[in-house]
Amino acid sequence: MVEIIETVREMQEKADALRKSGVSIGFVPTMGALHEGHLSLIRGARSECRSVVVSIFVNPAQFAPGEDYKQYPRDFEGDCSKAETAGADIIFHPSVEEMYPPEASTVVKVQELSEVMCGRSRTGHFCGVASVVAKLFNITKPHRAYFGEKDYQQLVIVRKMARDLDMDLTVVGMPTIREEDGLAMSSRNAYLNPEERRAAVVLFRSLKDAGERVARGEKDAEAVIQGAREMIESEPYTSIDYVVVVDPETLQGIKEIVCPARMALAVKVGKPRLIDNIALHPPS
Ligand code: PAF
Repeated sequence: MVEIIETVREMQEKADALRKSGVSIGFVPTMGALHEGHLSLIRGARSECRSVVVSIFVNPAQFAPGEDYKQYPRDFEGDCSKAETAGADIIFHPSVEEMYPPEASTVVKVQELSEVMCGRSRTGHFCGVASVVAKLFNITKPHRAYFGEKDYQQLVIVRKMARDLDMDLTVVGMPTIREEDGLAMSSRNAYLNPEERRAAVVLFRSLKDAGERVARGEKDAEAVIQGAREMIESEPYTSIDYVVVVDPETLQGIKEIVCPARMALAVKVGKPRLIDNIALHPPS
């Protein structure tokens, strides 16, 4: 049976005991509403670590005012059974008060990386993410922590934070899991109505098309971006937040695609705002 832990102290004691007895800890942080993407992270942790901890915590600090904190899908019972089937040993499920006592006043900010891409339209979002992930690392004490490439900017920021703050763990990035038609799995896909769901496929189609153009020798980032924008704009219900081609580590925009790069986008499809990205590989 999966063990459910709700307090910071109990989770830290459990992690200490596991570490003392030489057990490796794999950690998968989530906000619940688990889908195949999360389950692939849990399976990844299961295959590499002796003990697998999954956190389920909808983190208020990473939602800006007016975002979907209240409506964010929650299904704790369903999540527990999915996580257990995928290989979780422990679910850490703290309350908001447990994570953020009123006297707390420290935040973690990864500068520059947090200010581009999603950071432009989601003020404070990545500070909320970095702060809660730092806390979760200190609470669950993992040897390896698993993050999906679907949230590419988050993955890069968490890696940088771990390096900058000398956190003694490995951040593992795992490939995006997609629906059959290519839409990246996301808890927010649940907000799409059937027509928006059909239109949302254009996000991946435009990235795939860009990837193919680059593989055939297109070097001009602006041309690749423009091609993707036109494809997306030709679909109903879409409104582009950004489409960028960036350096995979610094997330700074690039003009000429002569080394592996990352293409990322954020698009509103109806009300929901969806993100996706792919690696771009120029011909060698
Ligand atoms: O990717 C998510 O679900 C969240 O940003 C995370 C990493 C669990 C932090 O709240």
